[in-house]
Amino acid sequence: MIICKSAAEIEKLRRSGRLVREILEEMRQKVRPGATTLELEEYAEKRIRQIGIKPAFKGYRGYPCCLCASINNEVVHGIPSRRVLASGDIVSLDMGVIVDGYYGDSALTVPVGEISDSLKRLLRVTEESLQLAIEQARAGKRLGDISAAVQRHAEQAGYSVVREFVGHGIGRSLHEEPQIPNFGRAGHGPVLKEGMVLAIEPMVNAGTSDVRVLDDHWTAVTADGGYSAHFEHMVAITRNGPDVLTQL
Ligand code: MF3
Ligand code: CO
Repeated sequence: MIICKSAAEIEKLRRSGRLVREILEEMRQKVRPGATTLELEEYAEKRIRQIGIKPAFKGYRGYPCCLCASINNEVVHGIPSRRVLASGDIVSLDMGVIVDGYYGDSALTVPVGEISDSLKRLLRVTEESLQLAIEQARAGKRLGDISAAVQRHAEQAGYSVVREFVGHGIGRSLHEEPQIPNFGRAGHGPVLKEGMVLAIEPMVNAGTSDVRVLDDHWTAVTADGGYSAHFEHMVAITRNGPDVLTQL
């Protein structure tokens, strides 16, 4: 069952969405050659504590950190470490928080120093695919319209979409129904309704869509070693169209 939210609940989710995005944008400024993802984790934890909210990922199915930081060929769920970022890398930062019982979840991929034109294009196309998907988040449309928008844009650019990880409904739980694949058929799936809040999160690979999980049981990497980008926003379906809750 897909839980529809009241206007008051959407405002609660906007609060958590904006706070998580605010911390992510602060972390974007801290991404530079020589930094480690553990430093970003420490920063995230400090800010979450300062604001007086809770991390959503730490302890979730045993995940050890507040932040997921996935570098280059890592797709999602990279565990922050002492690995030093170098110019030319890309790093995907994904974080969740709980504010007054409501979840916020957002992600973005950040260039480290100067990156190649082909990586700039991967980041741009992935973010565009998210924007095109958000545009489909309207009452009367179907879930497949969102999925198809991501897939079409990524594949037209010569990239592939990850199949093993999906977006999701969000509210008083991090993961609610529906699952939101980044591939699918327009005009198919559940009809979208006012009050639904969706975390849409395209994961786009430069090469093959296949992924595998490392021995740490978390880090998902591309099977072919190609680079991968990830952007995530929470969007509420309202009578006035899509309302992005993770926007400052
Ligand atoms: N952004 C991922 C998601 O939306 C985060 C996974 S939560 C983790 O589902 F704690 F398992 F990392
Ligand atoms: Co998510």
